[in-house]
Amino acid sequence: MVLELTKEEKEMLDGKHGKATRKAMEIITTLGEIYGAERLIPVSSVQIAGVSYHNLGEAGLEYLSEMAEDGRARVLTTLNPAGMDLSEWKKHGISEDFAENQQRVIDAFERMGVITTCTCTPYLIGNLPHYGEHIAWAESSAVCFSNSVIGALTNREGGPSALASALTGRTAEYGLHLKENRVAQVKYEVRTELKETDDFGLLGYIIGERTGKTIPYIVGIEHATTEQLKSFSASVATYGGVALFHMEKITPNRTSVPDKTEVITRDDLNGARTELDDEKADIDFISVGCPHASIKEIAAIAEMLDGKQVTDGKTVWITTAKPTKDLAIKMGFYDKIEKAGAFLVADACCAVAPLKGRFTGLMTDSAKACFYARGKNKFKTEIRTVEECIKEAVS
Ligand code: F3S
Repeated sequence: MVLELTKEEKEMLDGKHGKATRKAMEIITTLGEIYGAERLIPVSSVQIAGVSYHNLGEAGLEYLSEMAEDGRARVLTTLNPAGMDLSEWKKHGISEDFAENQQRVIDAFERMGVITTCTCTPYLIGNLPHYGEHIAWAESSAVCFSNSVIGALTNREGGPSALASALTGRTAEYGLHLKENRVAQVKYEVRTELKETDDFGLLGYIIGERTGKTIPYIVGIEHATTEQLKSFSASVATYGGVALFHMEKITPNRTSVPDKTEVITRDDLNGARTELDDEKADIDFISVGCPHASIKEIAAIAEMLDGKQVTDGKTVWITTAKPTKDLAIKMGFYDKIEKAGAFLVADACCAVAPLKGRFTGLMTDSAKACFYARGKNKFKTEIRTVEECIKEAVS
């Protein structure tokens, strides 16, 4: 199969639109050739991951700086969480050194015209595609949410390929951009009532582990909030690499229903909870907001913390997007949270901030946060409802 390019795309590849655009087009066309795409397609929105200096390092920063010399984003582009709150990092215990380097990363993106708000829930703050729209997103939970809940179409991009899409406004048409690759393969029947975000995270853990990369079709869930669906999206993508799911009566499905059925019961959920609960976890860190918290979640947490005090020796991070934090400030939620001794942290999260060695045990409502706390930071973990997390913080 030959990858056909338009006149403008050929010009980008020939360097007529600058050095960075040429490099970006080389990445897009190489991917297209590897995956047998016949053409490139325009994307209307990009979300770039790999923003934390903690993950990028000096080599990554050098690459970005080079691209920023003459590269400019052609479509709406936002960033995944960075390693720190870009304004209040100092009070969260981030070092000057790290902060300086993280800021250099953000500056490079800003030079490219990227909207430098750093969040894994861009769909809550204005980077919201519509059903059927082609996009190029990188953060796994956001990819899963946008493909499944919104019905937009994206592959799970890497940091460089997402940036390449931002600079060219294109992606290669393969994988989940083609409707024949979006068909469900295994049906999962959920025979238990799911209550809170932690339950949805546990369901994602179970389905992710069982399904791997096959596309699940989930039945038996009568109702799910945006917050619960973002928790499920994060978890199923983390534990299984799933970039798309169908949930009957909840998501906009255009798929046949698979015959092969697996059943999920309360016992399975209890088993998953046991898996994510480490014995003798000494909880000194409580983090809620993975994926980044919505204003509704923050309002509820502010009420729970109002008039209370976080116990000595415990640190609480509620992580969210900067525009959501600004709204929380305006509404008085920030004051309630911070007066209690908890932190409302924007732009960052407990997985990408440099937290290794600072804590020993994490309590969270997020199955995904458990995965990274254990793997990257070597924390022990416990998964609970948001309410139980806050109770633990102030007890
Ligand atoms: Fe988002 Fe960080 Fe969780 S990127 S999904 S808050 S691990």
